[in-house]
Amino acid sequence: MQYSEKVMEHFANPRNAGVLEDPDAVGEVGSPRCGDVMKISLKINDASETIEDIRFQTFGCGAAIAVSSIFTEMVKGKHIHDALRISNDDVVQELDGLPNVKVHCSVLAEEGMAVAIQSYYEAHPDKTPPEGLQEKIDHLKSIDPHGDA
Ligand code: FES
Repeated sequence: MQYSEKVMEHFANPRNAGVLEDPDAVGEVGSPRCGDVMKISLKINDASETIEDIRFQTFGCGAAIAVSSIFTEMVKGKHIHDALRISNDDVVQELDGLPNVKVHCSVLAEEGMAVAIQSYYEAHPDKTPPEGLQEKIDHLKSIDPHGDA
């Protein structure tokens, strides 16, 4: 299986790995089929609703680790709404591609982020969650990460 240099580099030196102390939001998602799990923790600025800090823990394949690493770089500093617009396709493109059978591993980061953001709005009922958040989560959950590419 051929991985891009960027995938190999992020796998070898993952950025933003670990957990944040006292996070404002947490999202944990997993693939029921392979058992791979990803956990995202976020620090969110309440006033500007931007992602101030992010960490990930991924117990899974190398592609999922590389995806998690680059994803944290892509969303850090962004407004929640903009972070939610980053799709698994954007992540794959940023990694200079993934082998077809591994493209589905990239869904974990997008899903973990959406679940984390949902937990933030659950903890802040005074704020209005972005439109379509629940639909996005339902859609991502319905994708089989190990289906046919
Ligand atoms: Fe399970 Fe990659 S093999 S997420």
